[in-house]
Amino acid sequence: MPKTLRAAITGLGVAVPKKVLSNSDLEKLVDTSDEWITQRTGIKERRIVSADQSTASLAAQASREALADAGLSAGDLDLILCATITPDMVFPATACFVQHELGAKDIPAFDISAACSGFIYGLAVAGGFITSGVYRRILVIGAEALSRFTDYTDRASCILFGDAAGAAVLEATEDDRRGLQYSVLRADGGGWDFIYVPAGAARHPASHQTVDAREHFIKMRGRDVYKFAVEKMQWLLADCMAHCHLTPADIDMVIPHQVNLRIITSAVERFGLPMEKVYINIDRYGNTSAASIPLAMHEARAAGKIKAGSLVVLAAFGAGLTWAGAVVRM
Ligand code: UT7
Repeated sequence: MPKTLRAAITGLGVAVPKKVLSNSDLEKLVDTSDEWITQRTGIKERRIVSADQSTASLAAQASREALADAGLSAGDLDLILCATITPDMVFPATACFVQHELGAKDIPAFDISAACSGFIYGLAVAGGFITSGVYRRILVIGAEALSRFTDYTDRASCILFGDAAGAAVLEATEDDRRGLQYSVLRADGGGWDFIYVPAGAARHPASHQTVDAREHFIKMRGRDVYKFAVEKMQWLLADCMAHCHLTPADIDMVIPHQVNLRIITSAVERFGLPMEKVYINIDRYGNTSAASIPLAMHEARAAGKIKAGSLVVLAAFGAGLTWAGAVVRM
């Protein structure tokens, strides 16, 4: 009987822009303070793309690093998935730009639009292709240039977002202790207006009016997103632990979407998970949506907090509304 295949993460890479936007920089743009932002979100600074960078260029940079980490070249890939809500263009897919940049020929490439849950959605899609034997080597990217859609006159939202990319190479393995053990994906389109960009696509195409009304920028119902995020983060951790029969002691690291330090702490405290087991880098990058989890995962590994064999739980939630969780053995 053929052995069950698992999708193992064999390479990780990241790209962050050099330019730093600190809380004190934001104090000069809107009526806010370092103290308010730090207390309410845990964010101190975020990275911002320069004029010659974009989502695709960050994604390609992170992908090259992930491929090198896996000891592979672009020609070894069977599929490229790019999770993003800040694509280079409405179409074609940012994944196609990345494919071209990497020089990967004759393979499929497509985007996943699931906001902050996008990287986990990508892992789940890649896992499905790998376990079913369709593809063996898949590049999953989470990349965002959120600053390009951020309204720097809206103090309630502009303090949150940053730009980054993270990429993972997933490869088929017959070692069933490794790789993606479980994933859960959910969405509720009824909450589409919790966080969205109103114009610039088919419903409200770009016009002078949409530009004047600042409708090409992110609109957000912060309090509602907050409540949704706390509830879903708790639900995702409970679901992942129940499904994989895990206690907090079995988990080496929780890597949550870096949404807001208060949201993360209030959700994990309920499970008796010590904060040493929760990876946090929101202070340095803010909310980078689909890039947030691979960026944190890469850092956690570099810091020695996760290594081969570590059991890691991922949890994310965002626009859509979407939410997603995964259990991965590194
Ligand atoms: O991936 C999903 C992306 N979205 C999110 O992550 C959003 C999740 N939500 C949050 O993180 C929080 O709701 C925020 C950080 C956005 C806001 O924190 P909050 O504790 O929910 O504040 P609030 O919206 O209830 O506002 C409290 C006060 C208000 O003033 P009044 O009405 O009490 O006078 C706001 O006008 O804080 C004011 N405020 C600010 N003050 C200084 C809102 N933004 C700012 C600001 N600086 N940047």
